Amino acid sequence: MTTPALTLNDGHDIPAIGFGTYPLKGDEAHDAITSALDTGYRLLDSAVNYGNEAEVGKAARDWLKANGVDRDQLTVQTKLPGRHHDYESALDSGMESLERLGLDRIDVLLIHWPNPITGKYRDAWRGLVELQRRGVVRTIGVSNFTADHLSDIVDDTGVTPAINQIELHPYFTQEHMRAVHADRGILTQSWSPLGKRQAPFEESAVADASAAHAVTPAQAILRWQVQLGSVPLPKSATPERQADNLDVFGFELTQEEMDAISALHREDGRLFGGDPNTHEEM
Ligand SMILES: NC(=O)c1ccc[n+]([C@@H]2O[C@H](COP(=O)([O-])OP(=O)(O)OC[C@H]3O[C@@H](n4cnc5c(N)ncnc54)[C@H](OP(=O)(O)O)[C@@H]3O)[C@@H](O)[C@H]2O)c1
Repeated sequence: MTTPALTLNDGHDIPAIGFGTYPLKGDEAHDAITSALDTGYRLLDSAVNYGNEAEVGKAARDWLKANGVDRDQLTVQTKLPGRHHDYESALDSGMESLERLGLDRIDVLLIHWPNPITGKYRDAWRGLVELQRRGVVRTIGVSNFTADHLSDIVDDTGVTPAINQIELHPYFTQEHMRAVHADRGILTQSWSPLGKRQAPFEESAVADASAAHAVTPAQAILRWQVQLGSVPLPKSATPERQADNLDVFGFELTQEEMDAISALHREDGRLFGGDPNTHEEM
């Protein structure tokens, strides 16, 4: 299976769907990532705080070698943790991620959370800009940033993040942030794209769309994500579900189906109350 690509504001391409790797670790991570790559995923989402960069990097390297696939066909992304937001710490952290991944470069590095109470995300962004200038990282972006956080770092550096990875699923549709991203030319990525444990598979909007297109509820939701213009990062340790989740480019939801799924939005729909203005994650 091949997936379409989208072009980022830095000119690089990124797959239109990716594979989430949290909380996979050890042999389970190696097996799940290998099967995801076999299935056709070409974007892997990791983070320092997932504690699995070594496993992600090794699985990627092993798979590229075993299949004779060009390194450029694969996008590996990871995230800078809150405890490394000082400028110098961000530089060191990027080098340590590169080492753990064991790759020639980090394809995508995101600031994991803004941690506005700690208040050092502007320093962290200057660090990422420098890591990109040094060629350690190809594409730089952020995660869980609000419109104000984005303004701060763009005003400071003149460099717009290529990506903002945010919580986005049918119960929390992020209409405002998607509009902000469209204005600034930032690609939206969706974390917990299926809604994780609170997946709205039973909701009639999802069930109806899945029945109408003879697809699973998960496929209907991921197709909704794709048509919103966001890149979903579903995680599954199950090869059959991995294949299902990737196979969302052969059908199209109608505007009515899109609207019905979007109408599941609730103001309190966040999965664990992870409001970026108050949630601190180090
Ligand atoms: N930037 C951030 O702050 C942040 C926060 C959270 C997550 N993330 C990223 O987003 C990725 C995905 O988020 P997530 O894991 O929280 O949520 P998710 O992908 O929405 O849901 C994952 C759960 O859904 C199940 N599942 C997957 N495909 C399914 C299918 N086709 N049918 C039924 N169940 C299915 C999985 O079970 P099985 O594995 O058993 O199949 C797993 O329990 C993470 O892995 C991580 O990379 C980022």
